[in-house]
Amino acid sequence: MESFPITWVREQFPALRLSVDRVPAIFLDGPGGTQVPEFVIRAVSDYYRTSNSNLGGRFLTSQNTMDIVERARAALAEFLNAKHTEEIVFGQNMTSLTFCLSRVLAKSWAPTAEVIVTSLDHDANISPWRLAAAEKNITVKTWQFRKETCSLDLEDLRMLISNRTALIAVTLASNAVGSLVDIQSLGKLAKQVGAKVFVDAVHFAPHGKIDVQTLGCDFLACSAYKFFGPHIGVFWAHQEWLTQTQNFKVRPASDQPPGKWETGTQSFESIAGTLAALDYLRNLANRTSATTSLDAAMDSVRRYELGLSERFLASLARNRRVKVYGISDPKQVARRTPTFALRVEGVHPDVAAEKLGKRGIFVWSGHFYAVDLIERLGLSDQGGVIRVGFVHYNTVEEVDRILEALKEL
Ligand SMILES: Cc1ncc(COP(=O)(O)O)c(C=O)c1O
Repeated sequence: MESFPITWVREQFPALRLSVDRVPAIFLDGPGGTQVPEFVIRAVSDYYRTSNSNLGGRFLTSQNTMDIVERARAALAEFLNAKHTEEIVFGQNMTSLTFCLSRVLAKSWAPTAEVIVTSLDHDANISPWRLAAAEKNITVKTWQFRKETCSLDLEDLRMLISNRTALIAVTLASNAVGSLVDIQSLGKLAKQVGAKVFVDAVHFAPHGKIDVQTLGCDFLACSAYKFFGPHIGVFWAHQEWLTQTQNFKVRPASDQPPGKWETGTQSFESIAGTLAALDYLRNLANRTSATTSLDAAMDSVRRYELGLSERFLASLARNRRVKVYGISDPKQVARRTPTFALRVEGVHPDVAAEKLGKRGIFVWSGHFYAVDLIERLGLSDQGGVIRVGFVHYNTVEEVDRILEALKEL
């Protein structure tokens, strides 16, 4: 394999040139939203210059808008390995799309139905289901993660699942501690009892390949601002389900997917930017292999990030004042994303984040909406954790700089 083109990658992201007190900034805030490459900045401003309109007009700018939406949909279908382009639905963000879906799905739940959520998840994949279930007086069970590894164990799910289970809402990876979830095995269990599986892929999307067909899930949502694009949500479901299911829509809107699910006017500039984010990834693939495939891009991103994780965890093990929550064995990095929840002994997470911020190192502190996770770790009234989140534009030198800064805190 050719080595990862980190110099080229960093040149694409203008924000990475920022400095704080003349020290180059280090962006370790990716799990809260990544920076965008010049491809995206240009595509959004070009949209306003040449294509700004709405759908369905008989003139150039409207036709340009329709062309961009169609191409973005096709690119996202490739990104998620959807069978059909029409299976990709755009929306405001993952949270709003999930609230919409929870209301629609709840209509079909029998009074004896049960829903399973997890304590590993971001609240955007918990509250929509809890609220929908409450309206129907339906039981919600929580699949608890194991505290030692902050990971979900399928054995624990077996105790909760039954032929009453209508839905399992679960993340592909934790946005707080980085643990991955084995959706494929879970999907097989769910199928045996006829339960549907909703996957939150928001955190995982910038870190590796997503394949809805292999995952075997029924629904999946992600957000382009976590994978180098603008603030917009993306939802996937099987074409038959999107076609057959009745949703809340205005009368003149199309009754066919994806239009029937995309209520109101979409953020076309963000759709143009999302297409450009995927173009950027194609160019990245082309730098490491002879293809422009999104799979190849995400494979090379994953391999590069595994190296960053290994280095970070191996060095962190020598700092006794730092506690890592979740998978901390450098040999187990394949079971996680490069997102680390930490506490430094004697330093409140907000104070740690502020001190690091003054040194040009951007990390988030708190619970990141993973409220149940932070509570289960007993950290809710202690300010949660600091979150160090690497993505593929971070370097080995940046890993070393945060390690050094953590020592000095
Ligand atoms: C894992 C996860 N799920 C859901 C969300 C919510 O996404 P959105 O901001 O698109 O609603 C986030 C945002 O941080 C997240 O990290």
